[in-house]
Amino acid sequence: MTIRGTITQDVRMAADVLQDGGIIGLPTETVYGLAAIAENESSVMRVFATKGRPTNHPLIVHLGTDIDIDEWGVFSKEAKALAKAFWPGPLTLLVRRTRRVPDWVTGGRDTVAIRVPSHPVAQQLLNIVGTGVVAPSANKFGKVSPTTAQHVIDDLGVEVDIVLDGGPCEVGLESTIVECVDNDITILRPGAISADDVQSVVAGVSVVASGDSRAPGMLASHYSPSAEVRLFETIDLARKEIEALEKTGLRSSLLHFDNLNAYAEHLYSSLRLADNTGVDVVCAVLPTSAGLGAAIRDRLIKAAHR
Ligand code: TXA
Ligand code: MG
Repeated sequence: MTIRGTITQDVRMAADVLQDGGIIGLPTETVYGLAAIAENESSVMRVFATKGRPTNHPLIVHLGTDIDIDEWGVFSKEAKALAKAFWPGPLTLLVRRTRRVPDWVTGGRDTVAIRVPSHPVAQQLLNIVGTGVVAPSANKFGKVSPTTAQHVIDDLGVEVDIVLDGGPCEVGLESTIVECVDNDITILRPGAISADDVQSVVAGVSVVASGDSRAPGMLASHYSPSAEVRLFETIDLARKEIEALEKTGLRSSLLHFDNLNAYAEHLYSSLRLADNTGVDVVCAVLPTSAGLGAAIRDRLIKAAHR
């Protein structure tokens, strides 16, 4: 017996809710997901409806380390090498699907996105259920992703059966998505596994430019708070803007961390805080695009797009 829209640390109970066809908030090292058993069509449909996401935007299948990845995807030599190097971890591989993968997960495509997350609570849960679990970020479509159990409740409330609490997410940004189909290796979404990380394992990697929506659902505007987000290349320029805004009576806040890991970890909670405290304009400082900076820039540019 569970009370809808509550937080628990009981992994077995959360696994029971999933196996009974429920949808749960799932902690991962990147962001919290809204999880359902991939093979349960009505549960997956409830995930789309709860997020307000079109059903032709395909979902990522999450697998436990005990599960045979070959049952779910067709992995090329390069895909296998990337899986070996970065799984479990914040990497999603887009590969050809096997027959096991239902149409309602891929929107009818012949490819599937697969991820083996490293969060110990996610791993425990995935290995208990022993099958693929879909988990888009547990926010309303187009809004800021959740990085704590409370964020999931704030966004979805009683629309989610239960939220499994695994603490604040360590990475804070969604996984890097790498397409590995027909000898083509392309980074579709930047994340904590950087382009250099991918290149250190496989050759001939290309990167899709920010704003290009080759993966459905990666729209120019995404991760958007209610506050307006303005972008600056230096902290001095951001500070000048804040001074000018204060004179007009608008409430503003500065978004900046020197350390890239801290920037990624706190980016979404900072945007949420701005909304919760009535900030009109967030003045965000763009990091350079080296390493994790590329993913932070990508999310900030989408958050700023109106
Ligand atoms: O870090 C993450 O990846 C988080 C956590 C919860 O694992 N999940 C996540 O899922 O960010 P979601 O659904 O918000 O983003 C998945 C992206 C979507 O933009 C979707 O279009 C793309 O992956 N995608 C999934 N399957 C695809 C496919 N077969 N072809 C092209 N794009 C695909
Ligand atoms: Mg999302």
